[in-house]
Amino acid sequence: MNILLLGSGGREHAIAWKIAQSPKVDHLFIAPGNAGTAQTGTNVNIKADDFEAIKSFVLANDVNMVVVGPEDPLVKGVYDFFKNDEALAGIPVIGPSKAGAQLEGSKDFAKAFMQRHGIPTARYKSITAENLEEGYAFLESLAAPYVLKADGLAAGKGVLIVDSLEEAKKELSDMLGGMFGDASRTVVIEEFLDGIECSVFVVTDGTDYKILPVAKDYKRIGEGNTGLNTGGMGAVSPVSFADHDFLEKVEKRIIRPTVDGLRAEELDYKGFIFFGLINVKGEPMVIEYNCRMGDPETEVVMLRIQSDLVELLEGIAKGDLKERILIQDPRYATTVMLVSGGYPEAYEKGKVITGLDNVSPENILFHAGTKEADGQILTNGGRVIAVSSYGATQDEALAKSYAGARAIQFDKKYFRTDIGFDL
Ligand code: AMP
Ligand code: GLY
Repeated sequence: MNILLLGSGGREHAIAWKIAQSPKVDHLFIAPGNAGTAQTGTNVNIKADDFEAIKSFVLANDVNMVVVGPEDPLVKGVYDFFKNDEALAGIPVIGPSKAGAQLEGSKDFAKAFMQRHGIPTARYKSITAENLEEGYAFLESLAAPYVLKADGLAAGKGVLIVDSLEEAKKELSDMLGGMFGDASRTVVIEEFLDGIECSVFVVTDGTDYKILPVAKDYKRIGEGNTGLNTGGMGAVSPVSFADHDFLEKVEKRIIRPTVDGLRAEELDYKGFIFFGLINVKGEPMVIEYNCRMGDPETEVVMLRIQSDLVELLEGIAKGDLKERILIQDPRYATTVMLVSGGYPEAYEKGKVITGLDNVSPENILFHAGTKEADGQILTNGGRVIAVSSYGATQDEALAKSYAGARAIQFDKKYFRTDIGFDL
């Protein structure tokens, strides 16, 4: 079969790497991809949200399945675009409908959904300019710190956690005033939850689901989880505290009610669900849903899927996921993200990357922001390359990732040296 994967980051390179290993696949195309995905398939110069161009390509190249990496095309309705087009309707899109993608596209929707289905999450109130006074009153009823979330997509920047009540009120009013454009015309105020986070992923065909390996990402730029939020500086899998008991609670209280709730509400959902969870004294609660895989979690999760990923993707498409096999790799997997100096603030692009051929064969390199020009690989983003590795223990896997991280060079390279420190 021929598969088209949409997206261009480390997540997509990792998914492409895994798909390309499947004996079921003849051709893998990645749109638009990066210098790394070009090594696993054929890059196609089409933006992931240019639906008309995607349509032409799919029809001209006999594509049998479209796998969506990032949230943007999903929230914009790529699934529905295919479903409602006579020529495309028979080609499965792995990812939810626009309505289903609201789990990520609207925090207000996600919170109300969880409330309707009794899924544990922080207490909240949704506020618009019309009920600002209620927002102030709700803030006054909470203890510091205060969590304010833009309702819509804000490129991962829409969550503010502030220490003082005065500041929280001001931020609330600024957000409603358009701090994140239309994304913050509605703001979700949440009770702050204290605990350690992890990411749980499932694939679902809308009825059944399979739970993928659990991972933990490291979002802050600085050691010890300090400094600004980034797209992710590293990840590990498995996660020590997400043991059998914890995951049993997650499945019973969170995963099953979510999948059942989607079906009961007739929200067409055939794809990945990302549960951003927090462990509050042993009890899992949902911080957020995403309608796609996590990045850089995917750069460890794909290593830990031993069986064929395409087997699962077919199960999603055909609605027989229950019959499909998922075997997890028992080893540990880690990834360390090499980023451009200055990231997540201003940074330079176009730096020549060297040493890629010097890394150990035990390192699996997933390109996040790279491009090829004149036979050289150049940096092309804040996050540049994720250095992934297996190990019999987390420490062993990390030691390998760090050896790879040191072997690769580019001007102003930076990486965190404490991934997994808190486990
Ligand atoms: P999100 O973009 O929803 O993933 O939020 C970004 C980060 O903010 C999360 O990964 C958490 O670390 C933090 N966060 C979000 N909601 C809460 C909450 N209710 N309590 C504590 N931390 C939170
Ligand atoms: N690693 C978190 C995310 O992908 O949103």
